[in-house]
Amino acid sequence: MTIQKATNITWHEGTIDKAARERLLDQKGVVLWFTGLSGSGKSTLAGAVEERLFERGHLCMLLDGDNIRHGLNKNLGFSPEDREENIRRIGEVAKLFSDAGLVAMTAFISPYRKDRDDARSLLEKGEFVEIFVKVSLDIAEERDPKGLYKKARAGEIKEFTGISAPYEEPLQAELTIDTGELNLEDCTNVVIQYLEKKGIVRTAE
Ligand code: ADX
Repeated sequence: MTIQKATNITWHEGTIDKAARERLLDQKGVVLWFTGLSGSGKSTLAGAVEERLFERGHLCMLLDGDNIRHGLNKNLGFSPEDREENIRRIGEVAKLFSDAGLVAMTAFISPYRKDRDDARSLLEKGEFVEIFVKVSLDIAEERDPKGLYKKARAGEIKEFTGISAPYEEPLQAELTIDTGELNLEDCTNVVIQYLEKKGIVRTAE
């Protein structure tokens, strides 16, 4: 649990609230939290969902693990503590984007259930959509798009998720999508249909 360090700080309520921004954008401000092994297809799927929504006039913001680790989280590695802090910050940033009325998407391994649940707890019910991008370790390793599994097997990368560090599968994800079974278009449709059904975005004309 991160402690509150600063004292003498007061929350300030603005006059324009989240609901007003949602009305302006004609969408719900939510967080779509993609989680899964490296190579599961999180970034690819989230990117495809973003493209589809954008074409339909919805404003999204995709936060991607590898990218955020070049900037905001460049001081964090892959120990359990650093991954926790990585996810804590991303949970807060994603919440800010959802408060802005955007469909915020995050594509991080986020291997620990507790860290994902902590991110969920920042949002109201229905505003946090956990999407388990499921794939067997065998398939992820076979894909190995960045050659990292190979390095991890050779002992060149320590604490590699799935090999020498854990991945705790979600127990109650809103969506579980098997990218080893479905192609990208079908995976994307599953997400879009869920968003339409929940009234997060407009149904396509
Ligand atoms: S998380 O575990 O803290 O959520 P995050 O999604 O930010 O991880 O970053 C994962 C990406 O970092 C992987 O897709 C991979 O490209 C790279 N990476 C480098 N070292 C590791 C490691 N030890 N374990 C997992 N991913 C790693």
